[in-house]
Amino acid sequence: MDHKQHEVIAKWERRWLSGSALMSLGFVIFIAISLALEGTHIAQTTSRTTPDKLTSHELFAQPGVTALGPGRYQVATVAQAFVFTPSEIILPIGAQVDFYLTARDVLHGYQIEDTNINVEAIPGEISYFQYTFDKAGDYRLTCNEYCGISHQNMMGNIKVVSAAEFSSAVQDRQNEALALAQDGKLGEAVYAANCQSCHQANGQGLTGAFPPLEGHTAELYNAEGGRDYLANLLLYGLQGTIRVSGTNYNGVMPAWAQLSDEDLAETLNYILRSWGNDALLSNFSDYTAQDINALRGQDISANDIYQLRQSKGLE
Ligand code: CUA
Repeated sequence: MDHKQHEVIAKWERRWLSGSALMSLGFVIFIAISLALEGTHIAQTTSRTTPDKLTSHELFAQPGVTALGPGRYQVATVAQAFVFTPSEIILPIGAQVDFYLTARDVLHGYQIEDTNINVEAIPGEISYFQYTFDKAGDYRLTCNEYCGISHQNMMGNIKVVSAAEFSSAVQDRQNEALALAQDGKLGEAVYAANCQSCHQANGQGLTGAFPPLEGHTAELYNAEGGRDYLANLLLYGLQGTIRVSGTNYNGVMPAWAQLSDEDLAETLNYILRSWGNDALLSNFSDYTAQDINALRGQDISANDIYQLRQSKGLE
C-alpha cells in the first residue's frame, strides 16, 4: 500500500471518529435537556429484598395505598405474571405520593400513561419514585417489559379524584367489595382481577402454558389431600412442567399470599363451583378464611408444591 492510499484511509478514519464523537455528544446533550427541562429522572433503588421474603416484608406483605399524613400517601406495588397488586388505585389530586415497587418473579415494567413515570420492577430490588398528580382522571398502568405469554393483559388503573371525592371514592370501593362478598360474588371478582389473564374467563387456560381449571381443579380436589393441596397451591405457587389430559403446561403459577384469606377462600369456592367442576366433586364443603389462614407461614416453595403434585400420581 502506498502513501497516498494510507492518507485516504486516515482521512476516512478521522471522519468516522469525529462523527461518532459528535453523536455521543448529541446523546449527552439530549439527556441533559431531558433531565433539566423535561423532568426526567432515574428511579432509585432504595433497598433490596428477595422475592420469597415479600409475604413478610413490611411494605409488600399487604401491598396497597397507605395514608402517611395530610396530603401524603404511599403506594406499595408487587408486579408478578401477569398482574399488579394493587391494580386499581385511588389517589387525591395534589397529594405527594411515594411509590415503592418490586417484582415477585421476572422483570416487569410500570408505566403510568400521561406522566413521565416508566419504571422497571426488578425481582430483588425495591424501586422508589415520588409523584404528585395535578389533574383528575384515569391514568392507565401498563407493563412495558415482555414478561410472558399474557404480558399484554398486565394492566391497571390509577384514579385521581379531588380531595372531596377521595374519601367517598374509597368508601364506595369498600362498599362495593362488601356487596360482592354479601352476594357471593367476591370469588368471581378476585378471579377476574388475578387469575383470568392466564386461566381465562371460561376456565380453559392457554394450551402449553396455563392448565384448564374446568374439570381439572375438581380432579385435584378429589385426590388424597387435595383440599389442602389447592389452598397451598394458591399460597405458595407451583414451578415445573405439568401434564393435564395429555398436554404439557409449563407456565409458572405465582404465589398469591398477598391476597387476603377471604379472597383466596372465595376464589377457590368460585373455581370449584364453576365450569362443571361442582358436578365432579365428592364431599365438597366451602373453604373458609380460617382454612387458608391455617396454612400460611409454612416453609414451602413453588418447587415443593410441584413435587407434592407428582407424589399424588398426577404428572
Ligand atoms: Cu409484566 Cu409484561
